[in-house]
Amino acid sequence: MADYKNEFGWFAPKPTVEKKIYNLTAVAVGLGIFLVVFGAPVLLNMGKVHPVPQPSVDTPAIQKLAEKERQCVEPTEWMRANHMQLLWDWREQVVRTGERYYTTSRGKKVLASLSNNCMECHTNKSQFCDQCHNYVAVAPNCWGCHLPKEQNVAKAEGK
Ligand code: HEC
Ligand code: HEC
Ligand code: HEC
Repeated sequence: MADYKNEFGWFAPKPTVEKKIYNLTAVAVGLGIFLVVFGAPVLLNMGKVHPVPQPSVDTPAIQKLAEKERQCVEPTEWMRANHMQLLWDWREQVVRTGERYYTTSRGKKVLASLSNNCMECHTNKSQFCDQCHNYVAVAPNCWGCHLPKEQNVAKAEGK
């Protein structure tokens, strides 16, 4: 054993501590379990991307409109961001003041109604409204009372 200089000078021998990993098996198993449990969510979702919703405006009612009439009650960009607010405003206007019409920014007078306006054109709720709502996990509870007027619903009722 070579001389080893420590705070006491050259005399004290180098301490002999055996280098050893204790409980190697248990540590390895523990680490393994940790990595599997915490890595699972990452590994399971690797490479999976939720496709961006593609709401379809291809409904017979919209197809029937003349080319330049084929638009929403307000500009599309605005509707995308504000349709929920618009619906709430309509509801308040109708229920509290009894005024059933809404004048669009293009100066057109339309019925302020969820079922009897929006859903008259957007007759494909599951391919339109639901596409976006499922993606962002919002579930408007309107359909417990308001008729979605989805085409297959209408067919089922009309039998
Ligand atoms: C006259 C038929 C008609 C009515 C009524 C109508 N829409 Fe639309 N809506 C359309 C059309 C057509 C488009 C697509 C316009 C485009 O492609 O630029 C559209 C687009 C939209 C969009 C944007 C979709 C996207 O891809 O970003 C939303 C949201 C929307 N409508 C919701 C509503 C709501 C809510 C109502 C009732 C307040 C309503 N619409 C009433 C015809 C209508
Ligand atoms: C382009 C995507 C898109 C389409 C199409 C769309 N929505 Fe939405 N909608 C959203 C998003 C995003 C929210 C949530 C906004 C938020 O939480 O701030 C929302 C929220 C709402 C809300 C408020 C819900 C709540 O609990 O806050 C209502 C009501 C609503 N949408 C109605 C409709 C109706 C009716 C249609 C079909 C005619 C429709 N939307 C089509 C994207 C869409
Ligand atoms: C508990 C039942 C109920 C629920 C849930 C409900 N509504 Fe209504 N809503 C009504 C009733 C009742 C009226 C009054 C109907 C009338 O006078 O034509 C109304 C009226 C409206 C109106 C104006 C009239 C019309 O024809 O549409 C709008 C717009 C509206 N609600 C939007 C919504 C939206 C958006 C939701 C979901 C976020 C919703 N409502 C959820 C019962 C409900």
